[in-house]
Amino acid sequence: MSKVALGDKVFEVSIPHDTLQSRIREVARQITADLSGKQPLFLPILNGAFMFASDLLKHIELDCTVSFMRLASYEGTTTTGKVKTLLGPKKEIRGASVVIIEDIVDTGITLEHIMEQLEPLAPAEVRIATLLFKPGAYQKNRKIDYAGFEVPNDFLVGYGLDYDGLGRNLKHIYVLSEAP
Ligand code: IMP
Ligand code: MG
Repeated sequence: MSKVALGDKVFEVSIPHDTLQSRIREVARQITADLSGKQPLFLPILNGAFMFASDLLKHIELDCTVSFMRLASYEGTTTTGKVKTLLGPKKEIRGASVVIIEDIVDTGITLEHIMEQLEPLAPAEVRIATLLFKPGAYQKNRKIDYAGFEVPNDFLVGYGLDYDGLGRNLKHIYVLSEAP
């Protein structure tokens, strides 16, 4: 299926499944080499990273642990705007070599929230592995240690990424189609 309709929009294949898989194997090899001798704690961020994490972790050749984190958004009562908090492990973070697994880093605001909540828990180190990275949208200074693909500022879906909740199950990454 080269085109797919989700809600009111049509998307076309941007990064096919096979291309995703071969790049993910390369990223896994790099992480395996860089963290050799350590026992990393992988932290996939739900929901979007579930598919990338599943394929990436199959190719990690290290003793490791895996624990999931989820961002919860709510309207703060004493602050204006949205506050994001993390639901997930706390005790395991201390002293650990943590590898955050994300689907996409866009502005980097979400990643910043994650880092601000992890750092007080005293990890030994925190690395970030994201399948997709939009350098043209990134507003932060934190280093992105592992980026599967650098992509332009287009709206993408599939392979974990959603449009209004839809499309997470698709095996390719799709981009919003210009023509109907
Ligand atoms: P950031 O906080 O701007 O870096 O955005 C991160 C979050 O925005 C991701 O975890 C996604 O949930 C969502 N997002 C950003 N770009 C896209 C996209 O192209 N498609 C689907 N979701 C996206
Ligand atoms: Mg996400």
